[in-house]
Amino acid sequence: MEKIVLSPPFSHLYQSYPAVAAVVTVESGERKNAMACAWHAPLSFTPPLYGILLTPKRFSYNLILQAGVFGVNFLPFEKADLIAGVGRNSGRDLDKFAVFSLAVETLPEARVPVLEDAYAAYECRLREHRPYGDHELFVGEIEKIYETPLAFDEEGVPQVHRFRPALYLGADLYTTVSDQTPVRKRGERP
Ligand SMILES: Cc1cc2nc3c(=O)[nH]c(=O)nc-3n(C[C@H](O)[C@H](O)[C@H](O)COP(=O)(O)O)c2cc1C
Repeated sequence: MEKIVLSPPFSHLYQSYPAVAAVVTVESGERKNAMACAWHAPLSFTPPLYGILLTPKRFSYNLILQAGVFGVNFLPFEKADLIAGVGRNSGRDLDKFAVFSLAVETLPEARVPVLEDAYAAYECRLREHRPYGDHELFVGEIEKIYETPLAFDEEGVPQVHRFRPALYLGADLYTTVSDQTPVRKRGERP
């Protein structure tokens, strides 16, 4: 494939997209908040660690530090409106749960808002946070996973024909997976 070469400063870093557009939720005292998050990743299986990247400018930043726990909600493509709503508005200016009618599951044991629209959500206890350039990596230990059984098979594989994930392309554009039947490749040598 032909390549062109770009050098810093880069106008965007969309090359690794599409990325699953998650919604990070937090509740501290009486205040609930939600924000879109495309920069997130599993970091360790044992213990189960999950990382999210936030700039300190986010209203969610201090709320997560206060709460010591955050939620990572995975929503289907049909909810892209909601993701964009919590990703383009700050909780500093409005109550996103009220304005975007975010419904929360009734889960007495949950320490984070688990969204009704999510097909899965992680509840992560904040273990540490560290700046990397203009973002800060929040490392959370996954203490609970809430998932819709229909969304996963017996191997835990997401059933993307039933719950198509919301994927972010950058520049306010969202897409989802195609109708391609998943193919199993075991990496046998030729
Ligand atoms: C699809 C999408 C993905 C985003 N991903 C991130 C991210 O990974 N990290 C981040 O700090 N902000 C990200 N943002 C921006 C925040 O969601 C946005 O600034 C939001 O208004 C912050 O809300 P808050 O101020 O209430 O915390 C993203 C926005 C969108 C629309």
